Amino acid sequence: MKNLVEAHNRVKDFDWEFSYAEKPNRYPTKYKIPAKTKDPFRHLIRDYCAMEREKDDRQYGALEDAIARSGSTARAEERWTEIMKVVLPVLTFGEYGAMKGSGQLVDTVDNAALRQGYMAQMIDEVRHVNQEVYLNRYMAKHAADPEGFDRGQVFKSQNVFGRAAQNALECFFVGDPIEGALNLQVVAETAYTNSIFVAMTEVAASNGDQATPTVFLSIQSDEARHMANGYSTLAAVLAEPDNLPMLQADFDRAFWRQHAFLDPFVNVVYDYFQKTRTESYLEKWNKWLAEDWAGAYIAKLEPFGLRVPRWFELARERMQWGAHTAAMVAFASWPLHFWRYDPPTDADMEWFEQKYPGWYDRHGAFYARYRELCDPAHGRIPLQDFESLPTFCRVCHMPAVFPTLDDCHARVRKIEGRLHAFCSDACEFIYNESPARYQAKTWDEIYDGWSVTEYVRKNGLLRADGKTLLAQPHLERDKMWTIDDLEAVDFEITNPLRVMEEQGALAS
Ligand code: BEZ
Ligand code: FE
Ligand code: FE
Repeated sequence: MKNLVEAHNRVKDFDWEFSYAEKPNRYPTKYKIPAKTKDPFRHLIRDYCAMEREKDDRQYGALEDAIARSGSTARAEERWTEIMKVVLPVLTFGEYGAMKGSGQLVDTVDNAALRQGYMAQMIDEVRHVNQEVYLNRYMAKHAADPEGFDRGQVFKSQNVFGRAAQNALECFFVGDPIEGALNLQVVAETAYTNSIFVAMTEVAASNGDQATPTVFLSIQSDEARHMANGYSTLAAVLAEPDNLPMLQADFDRAFWRQHAFLDPFVNVVYDYFQKTRTESYLEKWNKWLAEDWAGAYIAKLEPFGLRVPRWFELARERMQWGAHTAAMVAFASWPLHFWRYDPPTDADMEWFEQKYPGWYDRHGAFYARYRELCDPAHGRIPLQDFESLPTFCRVCHMPAVFPTLDDCHARVRKIEGRLHAFCSDACEFIYNESPARYQAKTWDEIYDGWSVTEYVRKNGLLRADGKTLLAQPHLERDKMWTIDDLEAVDFEITNPLRVMEEQGALAS
């Protein structure tokens, strides 16, 4: 083979169809995709494999050798390593979804150049699943408190925020494969992976965790190619004028579905679980999401007819306080989770006030009270200070508390005899586009009527001694809550919509 370009073209010639059977149309798309477009991915498989092998060798080698010997993971700030107990299972689910979505695109998109890019992405995503599962296992072996890392994949499917995560990240592979590409490549990868896989490594490294950056930075070096796949997919779709109206609607929905989970989640992880402090998530968001993604990348596509997503401004408005409201829900409901919390100190509060002026007036009293209730002697959890549990959004499955409890945009609708809460105009609109897609039970509907101890026991949220809770409201080892302490807390999970209806509090 004379040169790489020739070899690359030769590989594309191998793109073949069945001659002996009709190709099954497993993942139909409503879009028309031109058979020839610009090639997003000019690596040959031979180069690609050599390059990725080298990266994997380096990453696994560092973890097993220098990082393991240094013992740094055990000495990392526990406030930070604790939250990795949920971050890793959630991201692993995302990788798995990304693998499925890119596999579907290979099947559906009849364009050899695009297919090659999707194929390489699919292989990347398989590697990322392995890398993250490996990191999870590594944490279970090396972190100061390994309990929780061992069963996170199971726990996340029962967890308030884990369920919302699955709902958002499933969008990579449910529905039309091109809609999957918009969710995965154009939104999650192009808009969000910098904050997930780059910015989060800054926090990890500043907090003494060397293992996470080793894995995440290796992953992010693949994401650049996945973003290129997204751009090429968009360019191919935009080449066909009939696609445009559907594209804008799918794109608007994709942005909101990813934002609704990723922004509050990553923001809380970022701002509430760093001990040695760096920038705030809002600062990153303004630069990377607002300026770079919406302001430069998407704006450049405007001449081709694609506009900044319809609910982008709503998302921007939510960014000021939304995550802080979500953080209160997370801290208040601490026994329902599988990691330990470290309440904000006075120094943390000063940082919050500086980064989010007005934070102290809104949240200072909550965390002062939270700190008091850390002591099991009080027999109370902070959730009991609220009138009821929040409602949960039928579409995004997040607690419908945004942007703040005083100015909450949630609304309740009865549709064909069933009650639904929606967190926003956007989620209500998305539901109305296609109600059949959004009928899954919300977390409070599933656990309605369970006592908090029943929830902990049945979901396996106890440590190996069978009595100490996996979750703790603080990091102090000698004051850990047990299931007996929790027995003294008289708290039942109730579906607020059911209660409101029974009390006649809902206008029909
Ligand atoms: C990805 O594999 O590309 C991905 C995984 C989780 C969240 C966002 C993107
Ligand atoms: Fe990935
Ligand atoms: Fe990816």
